[in-house]
Amino acid sequence: MAFQKPPGTQDILPGTSERWQHVERIARDICRRYNFREIRTPIFESTELFQRGVGETTDIVEKEMYTFTDRGNRSVTLRPEGTAGVVRSYVENKLYGEPDVSKLYYIGPMFRYERQQAGRYRQFHQFGVEALGAVDPALDAEVIALGYSFYTEAGLEGVRVEINSVGTPSVRAAFRERLLAFLEPKHELLCKDCQSRIDRNPLRVLDCKTDQKHFEDAPSILDSLDEECSTHFNKLQAYLSDMGIPYEINPRLVRGLDYYTHTAFEYKREGIGAIDTIGGGGRYNGLVAEIGGPDQPGIGLGLGLERTIMLLEQQAEQANDSQIDVYVVGLGEAAERETARLVYELRRAGIRAERDYLGRKMKAQMKSADRFQARFTAILGDDELAKGEIGLKDMANGEQKLVPLNELAREIKQSV
Ligand code: HAM
Repeated sequence: MAFQKPPGTQDILPGTSERWQHVERIARDICRRYNFREIRTPIFESTELFQRGVGETTDIVEKEMYTFTDRGNRSVTLRPEGTAGVVRSYVENKLYGEPDVSKLYYIGPMFRYERQQAGRYRQFHQFGVEALGAVDPALDAEVIALGYSFYTEAGLEGVRVEINSVGTPSVRAAFRERLLAFLEPKHELLCKDCQSRIDRNPLRVLDCKTDQKHFEDAPSILDSLDEECSTHFNKLQAYLSDMGIPYEINPRLVRGLDYYTHTAFEYKREGIGAIDTIGGGGRYNGLVAEIGGPDQPGIGLGLGLERTIMLLEQQAEQANDSQIDVYVVGLGEAAERETARLVYELRRAGIRAERDYLGRKMKAQMKSADRFQARFTAILGDDELAKGEIGLKDMANGEQKLVPLNELAREIKQSV
């Protein structure tokens, strides 16, 4: 019998492992510049740590943990996320005794027993950072900027940053009442998941994709913030704007873990089926105390590496396959002859150029240009050639113009 890897796991083989190393190198290099230092904590911890840390009513703790009893009769759990272990270590090793903010990072496997789908695994990897010991919103902005830089430097395009304030526990308790009053009359209209979630975690209900149509007039947590929370949130936005980090406020953004206070944020990017969140994090001012440490605040993030690498691969494939830059159509004897020289020159200038080799008529050549998804078609007849010009058609908007032959490469390069 041949063995197979467990469902939801992956073998990262040579050829792909280099991509991982590349992305991990970027993560480490960014951390070096931001002065975050590596911490390595155990892959399993006591089950109670996650129950307390992540929260009893979260999907992670209720349904997704790999928990077992070891031979010494202790209940242990493979870490479903990195924050609880780092905070445990921060407390156990009394890192809070150091005079500066503890800025820590990690890269490693996490385990969640989730339903398998594209971008969702049972063993997956996170690059995460945690900064403990300061409430300054400049630190929130720094952490958000760090994650944004990671995606940018890895070359992933189209990443959006969404931010929200989830308030303090007392703000949330008050908002919860308002929200329940809004949701309860709608109970029957909501999907099964939401119906069962209403009492336990009404804030998550607002985040449901299928039920959005019922939530148009839902109350917003941003209207329930007290002064301390609004000030923190406003300062965060000012810092992000100063840094030029593009962000959107999403008042319905809630995270799947219970420890957040004030800032919550996610990085979003379309491209992996139904999943659009590729990373997230937030502030957790009560967590250190919750797991037995002093009352120290914290903020951090976790970025999924599988999702990052999948999207980078997808992006590279699209860039390679989809388009050529220009298809050169030569019509007439002299023009055909010039075509050979011209595509050679364009290619030497770094342009992806193609032409016809079958002596086809103009119409068939234009169809060929379409098949190659040419960004431009350059049309050269004997008349144009005599004048030292060539017709250039922008295939995206149909616009045509005549350009001097010796400026064709420059003209194309400006637009591709
Ligand atoms: P999280 O949102 O649960 O946050 O996970 C962060 C990221 O890990 C997700 O955005 C996703 O990219 C990736 N991820 C999560 N589950 C899976 C899965 N089953 N398969 C593939 N990728 C997955 C946390 O874990 C927090 N500890 C983040 C944090 C740090 N907050 C404060 N500090």
